[in-house]
Amino acid sequence: MSPIIAPSLLAADFANLESEVTMLNQSQADWLHIDIMDGRFVPNISFGLPVVEAINRHAKKPLDVHLMIVQPENYVEAFAKAGASIISVHVEACPHLHRNIQQIKALGCKAGVGINPHTPIDTLQDIIQDIDLVCMMSVNPGFGGQKFIENTYSKIGQLKELISKKSSKALIEIDGGVNQDNAKKLIDAGAQVLVAGNFVFSSKDPSATIRGLKSLA
Ligand code: DX5
Ligand code: ZN
Repeated sequence: MSPIIAPSLLAADFANLESEVTMLNQSQADWLHIDIMDGRFVPNISFGLPVVEAINRHAKKPLDVHLMIVQPENYVEAFAKAGASIISVHVEACPHLHRNIQQIKALGCKAGVGINPHTPIDTLQDIIQDIDLVCMMSVNPGFGGQKFIENTYSKIGQLKELISKKSSKALIEIDGGVNQDNAKKLIDAGAQVLVAGNFVFSSKDPSATIRGLKSLA
């Protein structure tokens, strides 16, 4: 099956967001990946609710909102209202992860869990059956354009095993440093959703780059 492609708008031209979103609408992109950073959970600040609302006014595809923030319970409702279809919170930021997931689902959104490169897959054991997506970080969250961490492949294998053991329907999303050198290998390892920021938006023809990723299967 061809992968779900979710270009990350963190790498888009913020001064021309409408045309970037239009390009994605017309491309083979499946979702729009939206990175929210608070300067606390991660050492960077990206953008917030008004920008997500503005993107949503033009987007014709689901918004895949990746919250890299502490205390996401204070904001998930606002992000749902701003147009999020999928909301992911980080396992490392959530002492009450189960409650956070129930809250996201009660808002009518799909629920995802982000997991950092050093965090063992085992931490998902008792939540995997409740979630729709695992956003597996293949870089340390906080910045676009970083180098892909090779250990990701073996973590995908472990996650696949856990998903099948628990009969979970969670999709495996890979986030960070995805490019032409690793995309096919990631899909072969079991990735079902590929996030790509710089690889898409820094290419000469982003739409063709998305098409190329989409045709890998
Ligand atoms: C990193 C973000 C990623 C990032 C991906 O903290 O979660 O979604 O935008 O960007 P690239 O593909 O450039 O690594
Ligand atoms: Zn992300």
